[in-house]
Amino acid sequence: MAAPSPALLDSLAALLGPKGFTRDCDAMTPWLTDWRGRFHGRAAALIAPATREEVAQAVRLCASGGVPLVPQGGNTSMVGGATPDASGHALILSLRRMNRIRSLDPEANLAVCEAGVVLANLHEAAQAAGRRFPLSLAAKGSATVGGLVSTNAGGTQVLRFGNMRRLVQGIEAVLPDGSLFDGLTALRKDNRGYDLTQLMIGAEGTLGIVTAASLKLVPAIGSRVVAWVGLATPVAALALLRQLEDRMGGAVESFELVPQGALDLVLAHIPGTRPPLARRHEWHALVEAAAPVGAPSPEPALVEALGAGELVEDAVIAASEAQADAFWRLRESIAEAEKQDGPAVKHDISVAVPDMPGFLVEAAAAVERDFPGVRVNAFGHLGDGNIHFNVRAPAGTDAGWIEGAGAEVSHRVYDLVTAAGGSISAEHGIGQMKLGEFARLGGAARLAALRAIKGALDPAGIMNPGKLVPPPPLAENRR
Ligand code: MLT
Ligand code: ZN
Repeated sequence: MAAPSPALLDSLAALLGPKGFTRDCDAMTPWLTDWRGRFHGRAAALIAPATREEVAQAVRLCASGGVPLVPQGGNTSMVGGATPDASGHALILSLRRMNRIRSLDPEANLAVCEAGVVLANLHEAAQAAGRRFPLSLAAKGSATVGGLVSTNAGGTQVLRFGNMRRLVQGIEAVLPDGSLFDGLTALRKDNRGYDLTQLMIGAEGTLGIVTAASLKLVPAIGSRVVAWVGLATPVAALALLRQLEDRMGGAVESFELVPQGALDLVLAHIPGTRPPLARRHEWHALVEAAAPVGAPSPEPALVEALGAGELVEDAVIAASEAQADAFWRLRESIAEAEKQDGPAVKHDISVAVPDMPGFLVEAAAAVERDFPGVRVNAFGHLGDGNIHFNVRAPAGTDAGWIEGAGAEVSHRVYDLVTAAGGSISAEHGIGQMKLGEFARLGGAARLAALRAIKGALDPAGIMNPGKLVPPPPLAENRR
């Protein structure tokens, strides 16, 4: 892949002006490393167009020079998806200046957002209009719409509202040749063949640059109830979720599984946090139920459901919004606390929902037996069959563990997941972190189709190279 020529860099600087173009090391440094500090890259320049037309022209210039582009939003990828490689040939294409909510229509239940709109800002704008964008995750203060679309993000409300695939009505994107695909439709039905919007969702910037998305809104929350529950096993947790759904239907929005070990990490590393329950429990669940404005509060039904049966060891209902937020802070700080604690390998995996409790217990036992000293920290979205099956290094190990023994641990975890019919990426994507394992376990048909699509839309391979699409095996390369 070519490095940009001085003439190309001059053209980009002239096109984008000083706010949209920099080669300054200090300005670029924060964007050359991923959130966890695991991947470090170099870039020839950072470009930050302010409009879709500027994106299109910049892409055309790069396409003519065969220069790679690495799109970046909030830089919150968990798989190194927005970090360039070490060659220094790529340009980082930051979408952060494209941060306008172009329209928010409560009648149509749609918000058209540019790629750089931060999720928390969209939440606020929707709420001010009596609506809600029902996708939330711990990185909501930094994660941007373009990244959420490009990774098909999930989060803590997928249980009720689905992931980005379900919440995107249409997108606008600049394709690798610089042409503009305008799919920002308000049409609820559109059957003109291949669905380009869905193809770009989860493509991790390998097929083009998402510049805007039209996102589905739902009614604002009128009342919510948040509970913290102590449980003995993941089996009990899933059984409780099903009981709650039987009694409360679609009101249950979130059901997050937290082991005592993860809670301990948060309490140790995140200032101002306190144990939610009086005693320790092997497992915990954070439950949220909500009702729209004018509908009865879900609280009595949740209190009754938690009180019925033998599954719950202990439970507390948040007595105020502040306490509800404090419960959520415990859950949403797990990744940060784990990072502060020391090296760990992350495995964002899924298996069929009914299989997850058994998988969790058996896989944890197998990994802890085969790799003495490691500590499984498995938490997350039980109701989606998606758990972050993270494995912490033995105490006192340095960061080098991740690439050495940690890689062997990952190998083992992904073998176990594959044997259970699961996926090695449930919501974080493949990025660069999982490229090798995806090549190993993705399956011939899936990988061939991915490569064919990539080759058709981006024949020069300039869009986010080295991410998501594993290169073909050497034998195929030679043909
Ligand atoms: C979460 O649900 O907190 C994340 O996706 C983070 C993680 O995998 O560590
Ligand atoms: Zn998650």
